[in-house]
Amino acid sequence: MKQDPRFPNLYILNHPLIQHKLSHMREHDTSTRTFRELLREITLLMGYEITRDLPLTTRKIQTPLEIIDAPVIAGKKLAVVPILRAGVGMSDGLLELVPSARVGHIGVFRDPDTHEPVEYLVRLPDTTDRTFILCDPMVATGNSAVHAVDVLKKRGVPDDQIIFLALVAAPEGVTVFQKAHPHVKLYVASLDSHLNDHAYIVPGLGDAGDRIFGTK
Ligand code: URA
Repeated sequence: MKQDPRFPNLYILNHPLIQHKLSHMREHDTSTRTFRELLREITLLMGYEITRDLPLTTRKIQTPLEIIDAPVIAGKKLAVVPILRAGVGMSDGLLELVPSARVGHIGVFRDPDTHEPVEYLVRLPDTTDRTFILCDPMVATGNSAVHAVDVLKKRGVPDDQIIFLALVAAPEGVTVFQKAHPHVKLYVASLDSHLNDHAYIVPGLGDAGDRIFGTK
C-alpha cells in the first residue's frame, strides 16, 4: 500500500496483481468480457486489502477435537453501495467477499456541460451502526464521490464508517474529495496524471461504464 504526501487519506493499492490487471484493463482493445472479469478480480483483491482492519471478536465453536474461541468478524454490519452505473462492476466482487452485506444504490450522472453530479436515485439500508463501502471505478472531478459521501453523512453515517473504493483517480478529483471529506479514506489502484478538457482521466481507461456494459 502506497501513500502520496499530498493526500493523507488516499491509499494506493499497488499490489503487483492489481497493477498487472489494471494495465490490461487500460488497453483500448480489451474486450467487454475481459474488462468486466478483470474488474471483478481487482475488486476481490482490493476488497481483501480494505477489509484488513475489520474488527474481530471470538465465538465458541466445537471443532472435531475441542471447543475453541474462534475469531469471527465483530458485530459491525457492512453495506456495499455502488454509485450507478459503473460502481456495479465493483460491487459484485465485494459481495463475493462479504455475501451477507446489505446493498444500497446511489444513482448520479454527470451533467455533460457542467460536469456537476445530478442525483436520480438513492436507496440505502438502515444506516445505524453500519460500515459503508462506496464504490465507483473512476474518481475524475471528484464531484460524484463527494456527493455520494454527502448522501451518507446526511443520514448520520460518521466519516470513519465510510470507505470509498475506486480503481483510478485523478489528482484533481482527489483534491476535491479530500477538501470536502478529509476524514474519509479513499482507496484506489492508481493515481493517474490529470484530467483532460472533457473531464476524462489521463491516461485512464476511457469510460468505465461503457467498457463494463459494452455501450457507447
Ligand atoms: N468517468 C469515466 O468513466 N472515465 C473517466 O476517465 C472519467 C470519468
